[in-house]
Formats: sequence, C-alpha cells, structure tokens
Amino acid sequence: MQEFQSNSPQKTKMIAKEFAGNLKPFDFVSLIGPLGAGKTKFTSGIVDFFCTDKKRGVGHILSPTYTIMNSYYSCNVTVNHFDFYRLKRRDELEDCGFFDSLASGVITIAEWADNISIDYKKYIEGNYYEVHIVAEKEGEGKNKRHIKIEKIL
Ligand SMILES: Nc1ncnc2c1ncn2[C@@H]1O[C@H](COP(=O)(O)OP(=O)(O)OP(=O)(O)O)[C@@H](O)[C@H]1O
Ligand SMILES: [Mg+2]
Repeated sequence: MQEFQSNSPQKTKMIAKEFAGNLKPFDFVSLIGPLGAGKTKFTSGIVDFFCTDKKRGVGHILSPTYTIMNSYYSCNVTVNHFDFYRLKRRDELEDCGFFDSLASGVITIAEWADNISIDYKKYIEGNYYEVHIVAEKEGEGKNKRHIKIEKIL
C-alpha cells in the first residue's frame, strides 16, 4: 500500500502519472472517494502517462455525470474511463460495456465502482488497484487530499 498527501490538483495528477507506470493491459483501477475528491483529476494523470500524442485527438477529461464511459484510444494502451455514479445494478455494468472492457486488453478505470455491490475480483484478468481519495478536515486547506493506493489483486 502507498500513501500520499496532495496539496493541489496538479500534484494529484503527478501522483497518478507516476502510479500509471505500474499499469498494464487488463488492469483495473477503482477510484473511491466523495464528490469532488479528485477521482477525475487522478484519471487525467493516468491518461497523461499513456497518451502522449495529443495531436491525435486525446481530449481533456470531463467529469461526466451523464457520460458513463470515455475511451482514450490514441494511446500506447487504450484507457477506458467509467463513471458509475448514476448506476445501481449489475446489468447496467453489462450494458455499458464494463465487463467487455475488462476482458479486452485495455486499462479500465472506474469512479464510483463501490456503488455496485459485486465482487470485482471475479472479473479482473490483470491487477486490481483501489485508489482512495479523501479531502483533509475542514480548515486545513481546501486543496489538501489524502491518497491511498492499494493493490487488491
Ligand atoms: N489536491 C487536489 N487534488 C485533486 N483535486 C483537487 C485538489 N485540490 C482541489 N481540487 C479540486 O477538486 C476538484 C476535483 O474534481 P474531480 O472532478 O476530479 O472530482 P471527482 O472525485 O471526480 O468528483 P465526482 O465524484 O463528482 O466525479 C477539482 O475542481 C479540483 O480542481
Ligand atoms: Mg469524477
């Protein structure tokens, strides 16, 4: 397990970019933390690591409340970024292509995976990481985040 302190969005992206060096095809990263914690920021650091060729149309990451998945394919390894904030049931994961993503040799990232109570371990062919991001207590600086990276599988 690794733990980090971040004091800015840029720092969070840097931590994510460094962590991304461990990731390989078939890996899954579950991002856990409250609204506005920095899960999408963290994702953009991972995308920065794999997707260097900005000219080929790698867009910036939105925090998609409506979009369930963004796929970044102009990359060394395709990165599929899911957001399950609005989802509740297992069959919704099937419908949005989540299981296909896990099986297709890309890197799969999901925010709010903890919204759906399934045993993710059963579906992951590569390594499984959980990233927990929490803001520090009120009054200690609104940009401070505690980031814990755990390898589950
Ligand atoms: N240290 C920090 N790390 C990450 N983000 C930070 C930090 N400090 C401030 N922020 C701000 O917090 C917000 C994090 O937004 P982000 O969309 O990444 O959160 P999220 O966890 O994905 O939220 P949601 O659950 O709504 O998708 C951004 O506005 C960012 O600028
Ligand atoms: Mg988000």
